[in-house]
Amino acid sequence: MHKRIAILASGGGSNAEKILAHFQQHDCARVDLIACNRKEAGVYNHAETYGIDTFRLTRANFYESDEFIQLLKSRHIDFVVLAGFLWFIPQQMVHAFENRMVNIHPGLLPKYGGKGMYGHHVHEAVKAAGERESGMTIHWVNEAYDEGNIIFQDRVALDPDDSPDDIARKVLMLEHRNYARVVEEVLCGDQ
Ligand code: GAR
Repeated sequence: MHKRIAILASGGGSNAEKILAHFQQHDCARVDLIACNRKEAGVYNHAETYGIDTFRLTRANFYESDEFIQLLKSRHIDFVVLAGFLWFIPQQMVHAFENRMVNIHPGLLPKYGGKGMYGHHVHEAVKAAGERESGMTIHWVNEAYDEGNIIFQDRVALDPDDSPDDIARKVLMLEHRNYARVVEEVLCGDQ
């Protein structure tokens, strides 16, 4: 029996796409559902390409009721992957998927994490601080933004004249190289 993955995304979904590709014909796990809090987002195109069901998250079904958690339960979801998902995860969701939910962050936590530190904000802060390197972090999700235990980090050297966009590109390459593989290790490593 395949383990069932749900991906939560908010935007273009390039990490989601890598995970969809990785688990398309996988022995251990499959992507079952993609949930997104935006009406229009690139991630829906990836879902369509791979024939994966989608679900639109709203405040009502994500924060004000347990409708989404019930949906995940009814679909027998084993594991939740946050891939560029920008909404805060409510406590009941954290508890429902304790040790079964991971996030990717485009920086080297614990630096450049926390509320408001996402996407380009991270790369701009890294640039402003004159950092010589940046990277990505994959971590477990707990109640605090970006503070769950770290599973894996990868780093990349920065040139002094790298712009925030250059940094973003370098970091995204690391994300694409690592996320699906690390999810596989965590989810399927005991098989
Ligand atoms: C990724 O760089 C991811 O690390 C970041 O958003 C981008 C999404 O790209 N996530 C966060 O900042 C979460 N705090 P994608 O939609 O192309 O995968």
